[in-house]
Amino acid sequence: MSQVTVTLTVNGQTQTITTDAHKTLLYLLRDDLGLYGTKDGCSEGECGACTVLMDGRPVNACLVLAGQAQGRTIITIEGLAGDGELHPLQRAFIRSGAVQCGFCTPGLVLSAVALLERQPDPTEAQIRQALTGNLCRCTGYTQIIAAIQAAAREVDHA
Ligand code: FES
Ligand code: FES
Repeated sequence: MSQVTVTLTVNGQTQTITTDAHKTLLYLLRDDLGLYGTKDGCSEGECGACTVLMDGRPVNACLVLAGQAQGRTIITIEGLAGDGELHPLQRAFIRSGAVQCGFCTPGLVLSAVALLERQPDPTEAQIRQALTGNLCRCTGYTQIIAAIQAAAREVDHA
């Protein structure tokens, strides 16, 4: 089986990994790096459970080949908390009751992080638009939107 060697930065750590050339970034993260917070819901770009930030932009890791991550900076859900403190969006998801089974949560949180980076005070319509690629089968989205609004207020007043 052909192999590819990729150097990338994941959650602040630059690493060089040799892996199967056909492997996706999703399975490079899960199998090669043990970062199981990035989920596989559909493997075909429909559900957003595999969302990570690549150079600051949300991408479906199931649609990115490992080789395409060469030289890129990746943030997964494991990379959000710092100094033992959850990210404001993680705290807001917990406080707002925005998590039920949790399978969609890492992807939703990372999409929301990217949204608040580019639009610190989003309208509800902007939040809904930013989440169109992230499906949740449990919550009905109301608490997720409330969580993102709460986090935006917290960051705004920090
Ligand atoms: S697992 Fe990637 S979009 Fe569903
Ligand atoms: S909380 Fe279960 S899929 Fe969203």
